[in-house]
Amino acid sequence: MKKIAILPGDGIGQEIVAEAVKVLECLRDDYGLQVELEEGLVGGTAYDATGTPLPEATLKLAKAADAVLLGAVGGYKWESLDISVRPEKGLLGLRSELGLFANLRPAILYPQLADASTLKPEIVSGLDIMIVRELTGGIYFGQPRGVRTLDNGERQGYNTLVYSESEIRRIGRVAFDIAAKRDGRVCSVDKANVLECTELWREVMTEEGKAHPDIELSHMYVDNAAMQLVRAPKQFDVMVTTNMFGDILSDCAAMLTGSIGMLPSASLDENGKGMYEPIHGSAPDIAGQNVANPLATILSVAMMLRYTLDEPDMAGRIEQAVNAVLDQGLRTADIWSEGMQKVSTSEMGDAVVAALRRQ
Ligand code: IPM
Ligand code: MG
Repeated sequence: MKKIAILPGDGIGQEIVAEAVKVLECLRDDYGLQVELEEGLVGGTAYDATGTPLPEATLKLAKAADAVLLGAVGGYKWESLDISVRPEKGLLGLRSELGLFANLRPAILYPQLADASTLKPEIVSGLDIMIVRELTGGIYFGQPRGVRTLDNGERQGYNTLVYSESEIRRIGRVAFDIAAKRDGRVCSVDKANVLECTELWREVMTEEGKAHPDIELSHMYVDNAAMQLVRAPKQFDVMVTTNMFGDILSDCAAMLTGSIGMLPSASLDENGKGMYEPIHGSAPDIAGQNVANPLATILSVAMMLRYTLDEPDMAGRIEQAVNAVLDQGLRTADIWSEGMQKVSTSEMGDAVVAALRRQ
């Protein structure tokens, strides 16, 4: 029996995770998936209930679980809190405490949604990129950090971009291993022309490249990579990059696929244990309205089945069901276009479950 910690979090997190749970329950009840689900609090919701965005009980639950499913954190309500207790700290704390250094963010264009992209169909059709983002280091976690007051009374904010060789090497290896199962190409993204830290990043990636002669390694500066992603995204297979560059580039890559509401992610530790979440945020502007797209979260469950629970057939079932509902013309508002049937969050979840049951 595998234990899954369910952490809906804030905003639309509550609604989309509820739909993903329906899918897990369907696999359990109809297809014999051996899982036990237990819910916990994280983010602003946890802060309101306990005074901290990452309560001890949640951390304990996440550590004891085989995998974690997370919705999203954050919202207007908590924006004025001290940064140390903001909802985002709950998510960052989980990543760091669980050692989830490897963040896999696939950007795949579903052919049914080619029209939903803001880019021309010929630029994005067939798009299949995997962004491998370092997740527990870099400027997100570097010390020292803070806001200090200078002698002249002016305030100064500062953060530190820091990567050790071993941190670069281990994320590099993840990227090379993934590329070996795909098209065999890795593009490492840095800012080696300006930042010493990423000059080292490039050096270490080059060494790792030599240890993986079957993989074609290239390097690109992050500004160029952002441009190339919108100019000719299909040139990329696997991209590997730092925590902050990966944060930015993965949103950009997501939008190529039409909606950020479609894309799942996996955050893995050294042993393949993982936390799974949609790459979008808590969308407080549409929270509670039953309009958010639950497919990214449902597809995150598929990634969980593939990467942590070693149930590739069950993962395939979910992906097939998602394809089926898209074929049926069902669309939440974010991916809706003329002639398609607009559905709510819960209707989309129900449709995926119905498609699963039909298999
Ligand atoms: C993401 C998010 C998070 C990040 C925030 C919510 C802390 O933007 O997962 O991409 O910056 O990593
Ligand atoms: Mg982000």
